[in-house]
Amino acid sequence: MVSDNKTLDKVYTAENHDELMDAYKDWASNYDADTVDHFGYVAHIESAEALNRALDSKDVYILDAGCGTGLVGEELAKRGYTRMDALDYSKEMLVEAEGKKVYKRHIQADLSKKLLVEDNRYDAVVCTGTFTYGHVKAHAFDELVRITKPGGVICFTIREGAYEDYGYRQRMIELEQKNCWELLGMENAEYLKNEGVSCKMCTYRVN
Ligand SMILES: C[S@@+](CC[C@H](N)C(=O)[O-])C[C@H]1O[C@@H](n2cnc3c(N)ncnc32)[C@H](O)[C@@H]1O
Repeated sequence: MVSDNKTLDKVYTAENHDELMDAYKDWASNYDADTVDHFGYVAHIESAEALNRALDSKDVYILDAGCGTGLVGEELAKRGYTRMDALDYSKEMLVEAEGKKVYKRHIQADLSKKLLVEDNRYDAVVCTGTFTYGHVKAHAFDELVRITKPGGVICFTIREGAYEDYGYRQRMIELEQKNCWELLGMENAEYLKNEGVSCKMCTYRVN
């Protein structure tokens, strides 16, 4: 059964970080059923496929940034990846992710701030469904680059609409011009299939 409108409205209309986290607190236990079954969310599958295409080994250390309930980790596990950490600011979403039993570490942290993660820690970072309205803004790319090894891969989605409105592309280009990363691919991909919503699926190699 889909969550009542009040729960979903809270996520879509949150005006600040605290309101958003409060909304995810209510949504965590129904998130998978609502997104996947009701809205036809497929970004977790599209992301796992995109990352899998960009990597040439399964023995890589991956961070799922904005992991939510762990849908992306589950898809990566199906494709043979076993060395994965999960990061999210919502405690309740992290608890759901822990239940998937696919991650080594579960890190509660704010992607909009400097992360307590050392430079060059991960071979790959995936960030799905988190660059969108009212969530994480473009300056967070810088931290994802910092914690990814040179030669590593960063794969993320940006929801249509937010891509045009939020200045993500501008920061992506600035980081390309500063030679921080190079674009491997950017395609339109399905996001919420039943709602006709798409996203940009972006894959970068870190320099
Ligand atoms: C739409 S969900 C996507 C979850 C998962 N990646 C997926 O594909 O199902 C967005 C997630 O971003 C997290 N989030 C939003 N703002 C955040 C922030 N500033 N720092 C860390 N996580 C954040 C939310 O708690 C939520 O779990």
